[in-house]
Amino acid sequence: MRLKDKAVLVTGAAQGLGLAIARRFGLEGAIVFLGDLQEEQGRAAAAELVSRGARAWFIRLDVADEESWKAALAELIDRAGKLDVLVNNAGINIRRPIEEMSVENLDRMLAVNVRGPFLGIKHALPLMRRNGGGSIINMGSVCSLIGHKFTPEAYTLVKGALSQLTRSVDVRYAKDNIRANVLCPSTVETPLVQEMMKDPERRRERVGEVPLGRLAAMEDVAAAALYLASDEAAFINGVAFPVDGGVTAW
Ligand SMILES: NC(=O)c1ccc[n+]([C@@H]2O[C@H](COP(=O)([O-])OP(=O)(O)OC[C@H]3O[C@@H](n4cnc5c(N)ncnc54)[C@H](O)[C@@H]3O)[C@@H](O)[C@H]2O)c1
Repeated sequence: MRLKDKAVLVTGAAQGLGLAIARRFGLEGAIVFLGDLQEEQGRAAAAELVSRGARAWFIRLDVADEESWKAALAELIDRAGKLDVLVNNAGINIRRPIEEMSVENLDRMLAVNVRGPFLGIKHALPLMRRNGGGSIINMGSVCSLIGHKFTPEAYTLVKGALSQLTRSVDVRYAKDNIRANVLCPSTVETPLVQEMMKDPERRRERVGEVPLGRLAAMEDVAAAALYLASDEAAFINGVAFPVDGGVTAW
C-alpha cells in the first residue's frame, strides 16, 4: 500500500484522468476525496471505489470559486482530519485558435485551469504546513513544456502558467516539506479523446508524434501521479514530469 492512510483530494475526479487517479490512489490505501462539479457521476464514482474496499467520498467543488474551495476543504478536514496530497487535475479545453477565441472563452479557460489550481494551493498550504508537509501535483500537459502544433494557444497559455506556478510553490514552500510537481501528459485515451480519435486521420496524427507509437493510457498517468504522491518521491520537487512516450524529446 503505497499511500496508506494519506488523505488526498483529486479535483475533476468524476471522470477521465481524475477518476483514474482517484481509483489508483484509493486502491493503494489512500483516503480519497473526489472533487467535481458533476454530483451524480462523482457520487457514483466514489460509491464504486467504496465497493472495491477503498475509503472514498465525493465532494462538490467548483475549482474556479474560492468559497467552494473553502467549503470542500472544511468537509475534508471534518472527515479525515488532515490533507496530505492535492491533485489539481480539473481542467477544460475550449479548442479555438487564437484568432477565433472570444474573451469570454479565454476567461473561462483561465478561471478553471489557472485560478482553480491557484486557489487550491492557496487553501491547501496552511493545512499541509500544519500536517508537517505534503505533495501537490498539478495536471499540466506537454503544452506546459512546448508549443504543440495540434493545440490552440489558450490551452498552451494555461498549461504553461501552471508549470510556473508549480516552480514558484516548490522554491518557496519546500522549507515546510511541501513538494510541488507538474505532470505533463501527451494525448491520453480518455473517453472524450477516444470520441475525437474516431477520425482516423486525427488518430494517425496524434499517434505519429509519439516515439513509443501509442497514445498514453489513463493508467500511465495515474501511475506517475502515484509515484509523485508517495513517499518514494520524497526528494522529487519542482519537476515537470513528461508522461508522453517521448513527444517532448523530439
Ligand atoms: N485527455 C488528455 O489527452 C489530456 C492530456 C494532457 C493533460 N490533460 C489534462 O488532464 C486533466 C483531466 O483531463 P480529462 O481528459 O480527464 O478531462 P475530462 O473532461 O474527461 O474531465 C475533467 C473533469 O473536470 C471536471 N471539471 C471541469 N470544470 C470543473 C470545475 N470548475 N470544478 C471542478 N471540476 C471541474 C469535469 O466535470 C470532469 O469531471 C485536465 O487538466 C486536462 O487538461 C488531459
